[in-house]
Amino acid sequence: MNNLLQLTSIGKKFHNGQEEVSALKNISLQIEAENYIAIVGPSGAGKSTLLHIIGGLDEPSGGSVTYKGRDIYAMGEKERALWRNQKIGFVFQFYHLIEELNVLENIAIAACGRLTKSAFKTALNLLKYLNMEERRNFFPSQLSGGERQKVALARALINDPEVILCDEPTGNLDKDSQDKVVELLEKLNIEKQKTIILVTHNLELAKRAKKTITLKSGEIASN
Ligand SMILES: Nc1ncnc2c1ncn2[C@@H]1O[C@H](COP(=O)(O)OP(=O)(O)O)[C@@H](O)[C@H]1O
Ligand SMILES: [Mg+2]
Repeated sequence: MNNLLQLTSIGKKFHNGQEEVSALKNISLQIEAENYIAIVGPSGAGKSTLLHIIGGLDEPSGGSVTYKGRDIYAMGEKERALWRNQKIGFVFQFYHLIEELNVLENIAIAACGRLTKSAFKTALNLLKYLNMEERRNFFPSQLSGGERQKVALARALINDPEVILCDEPTGNLDKDSQDKVVELLEKLNIEKQKTIILVTHNLELAKRAKKTITLKSGEIASN
């Protein structure tokens, strides 16, 4: 497996009024293409911060992140936004679907912010892949938590990203739905060669990844 993302000596400090919080300290990490990594650790350990930094959403205070050898924080804002849109898919705990749009529209609109014919076609194919085709005209309020998360996953896939970053995607789901979402992540890793980074509290689910990283107080405790 070749190196896709390289984190070198990443640090992240936040300022809460007078107080300075060191959320990440000297994190170095290699992420190979097609790998499936779980990040675990207690609340406040820095998991979300790390995921945001990997995905180009939040600039580190120190260190670098390279994607195929390119420093993503050396790019301009626009270029990085474009890179993120093309290469990275995000899935969050609370879905963040648009209540006024139906399932198909929620997915299609993530293509380029417009509901084009080709975006609808891709969205429908994704729904078929996720066995959710019959829900295409439903609104988010008419779906179960597990179904909403599948829609969020389809939305993350609309631009065929290389990397899928998931922040506690099963945190709000019952056991059955948790398993289904994780099975889908495995399927995407194996069948579609997606590189997956999964932040989870659930050690059972983390075990199913190819590699587990434990964060404690902003540092890698074991990997
Ligand atoms: N935007 C922010 N402003 C200030 N402090 C933050 C911010 N985001 C995270 N933190 C702090 O950084 C630390 C790590 O947070 P986070 O990455 O959310 O941890 P986790 O996802 O592992 O629960 C915590 O102490 C948290 O309070
Ligand atoms: Mg978090």
